[in-house]
Amino acid sequence: MRNNELRGPMAVDTDIIPYDSEHVFEQEALYQKVMLRYHCAILEMRTKLEVLSKDLSVRYRRNPIEFIESRLKKPSSIARKLRKDGHEVTVENMIAYLSDIAGIRVLCAYIDDIYEIARMLARQTDVRIITVKDYIKSPKDNGYRSYHMIVEIPVHFSDEVRPVRCEIQIRTIAMDFWATLDHDMQYKKKVQDADEIMRELRECADIIHNTDEKMMRLRERIHRIDDDN
Ligand code: GTP
Ligand code: MG
Repeated sequence: MRNNELRGPMAVDTDIIPYDSEHVFEQEALYQKVMLRYHCAILEMRTKLEVLSKDLSVRYRRNPIEFIESRLKKPSSIARKLRKDGHEVTVENMIAYLSDIAGIRVLCAYIDDIYEIARMLARQTDVRIITVKDYIKSPKDNGYRSYHMIVEIPVHFSDEVRPVRCEIQIRTIAMDFWATLDHDMQYKKKVQDADEIMRELRECADIIHNTDEKMMRLRERIHRIDDDN
């Protein structure tokens, strides 16, 4: 049957490349080829993180990584960002100017896990760190906390090895809870009590951070308790 043939090993897996209603790139074939690189970079990076997660959970008997999320940036968002920065919307410019086409988010239970994961990634010989922004040590004015890395990793294709950039955001589950609501707020236009909402969000960010730190100290105390007693 023809449909089954299409699902066979020769089928081109185009479902992995995001599309939305806006037609953005004239260079359609090149766009697909380049997006496939970012898709594969996500696969590589997820594997690296899953290996770390397994290794650490066997070693420490607790799992420092709770979840890994990933996404490819949608073409309309790529175009918006390029235009905002004054660049023409082309595949070449997207490669040259955007570092967050492949995005990976790592959610940890505790703050020290974030630094442990970041250190272990940075130590890997094939991971090239481009930039690090530590919004945990230096939170943004709105209260946003998260550890951001732009990294470049080699991806091995059939005929070439390509260095591909991805953005990794590492944060606690509690920070993520906050960032999701803050993100919703950022996309609202004409909010009546915007100042008051933002002040309260800022307050929540600080409370969440204090709780994150307290939980880490409690974990230390609980884990120090000798089970034989
Ligand atoms: P972008 O142009 O927004 O990508 O920012 P940037 O290039 O200056 O990098 P930065 O590391 O500051 O932010 C990268 C990403 O982190 C953003 O695209 C968001 O996903 C997230 N982020 C940064 N700041 C905030 C914030 O204040 N609130 C929330 N919810 N997310 C944020
Ligand atoms: Mg971004």
